[in-house]
Amino acid sequence: MSAPDRNLQTVSTPGDWTPASWRSRPAAQQPVYPDAGALAEVEDELSRLPPLVTSWEILSLKKQLAEAQEGKRFLLQGGDCAESFADCESALVSNRLKVLLQMSLVLVHGLRLPVVRVGRFAGQYAKPRSADMEEKDGVALPSYRGDFINRPEFEAAARTPDPRRMVKGHARSAMTMNFVRALIDGGFADLHHPEYWDLGWVGHSPLSEEYQRMVAAVGDAVRFMETISGEALHNLNRADFYTSHEALLLPYEQALTRQVPRQWGWFNLSTHFPWIGMRTASLEGAHVEYFRGLRNPVAVKIGPSVTPDQLMRLVDVLNPADEPGRLALIHRMGATQVADKLPPLLDAVRREGRRVLWICDPMHGNTESASNGFKTRRFANIRGELEAAFELHAAAGTRLGGVHLELTGENVTECTGGARELTDADLSLAYRSTVDPRLNYEQSLEIAMLIVRKQSSLVRPFAS
Ligand code: PEP
Ligand code: CO
Repeated sequence: MSAPDRNLQTVSTPGDWTPASWRSRPAAQQPVYPDAGALAEVEDELSRLPPLVTSWEILSLKKQLAEAQEGKRFLLQGGDCAESFADCESALVSNRLKVLLQMSLVLVHGLRLPVVRVGRFAGQYAKPRSADMEEKDGVALPSYRGDFINRPEFEAAARTPDPRRMVKGHARSAMTMNFVRALIDGGFADLHHPEYWDLGWVGHSPLSEEYQRMVAAVGDAVRFMETISGEALHNLNRADFYTSHEALLLPYEQALTRQVPRQWGWFNLSTHFPWIGMRTASLEGAHVEYFRGLRNPVAVKIGPSVTPDQLMRLVDVLNPADEPGRLALIHRMGATQVADKLPPLLDAVRREGRRVLWICDPMHGNTESASNGFKTRRFANIRGELEAAFELHAAAGTRLGGVHLELTGENVTECTGGARELTDADLSLAYRSTVDPRLNYEQSLEIAMLIVRKQSSLVRPFAS
């Protein structure tokens, strides 16, 4: 897709932007810290701690996202709704990685495209809430906003925002990154050894036969290539893995926003690929202001209330130079609204010839309360929104380049449906999320398989 002639800006840091310029705008969803001095000390400490990622990694992801925009890659982004400090454990981290690697094998095999793998981890500790306060039995306390900010227990001390938690969150993020990097560098992602990604509890999954067939086919292809080339295929033993989180808590994000030698501009070095949540995507708000000056690739969640005009203004502010790989739009409309709400947005972006990476989040528009009070998501609705998104993009002449999911490698029962047909009554068996319901391993793999099936059933106008 090439941009039509128009006066695009050159790629540069906006002249009126600084890492702190968001402070002059209304900042939604921020905690109120009782001790401003303690907050300032933490900000100072964080701004001197080593970063979690490097500018080289960020720029290499940006290049891969630019390729995904052109249909040469597919993006898989997934992880917990909210990480918790207590879940920073080796098995939980490696199981999540295993699911993402298995899904990515299914996608690579079925789509015949390299996959950009992005975790929702190593910093996904701050959550937007619908109300600032929570009331129980006549007592009102600040809402739980994620482990970066306070604790979930309904007690005044636990709910009081504590800035030291940002330092702890930075350390937990560093431990998570360190473990993921060590696993990947040590060969955990090696395509010669997909058995490394087996999850103990899977046993006789209804999907396992299909998955094992794909593993065998990939193994055959690898051996065939190695036989004819006479040498081991390099690059199969490691996979790039990138991180992302909702950059909600702006004092933390600002403290990790740095300049680096031999590069111009400012990088958020707390993550490769930060996103703006749906509730903080206002054009006049602090989050959009903060994001517009970063050199990272950035994403915005787009909900059903966004109009084409608002969307185009967001695109202008966040990517004024139409830079490749810079901007991803994650639409999350809900299965019942996607057919109405998505096409006008696709048309607007296509008409203006703007470069974006379209990603579907089929989770957040499909959250509901089950009959027994559990917050859940129906697999049929997740699937319905995702399949509709593929069709709507094909009809609009745009391309769905990725998927954004909440998932875990644990055997949880948080979303109903799927191959094992979990029911509302099953939700109580293993419901662990403190925030949104996640796909378990089998449901995640099933999503990867249905993406492949859906994509291959559509005419692909851009396939080369
Ligand atoms: C989320 O991704 O967990 C989230 C809160 O999403 P959204 O901003 O789309 O509601
Ligand atoms: Co969520």
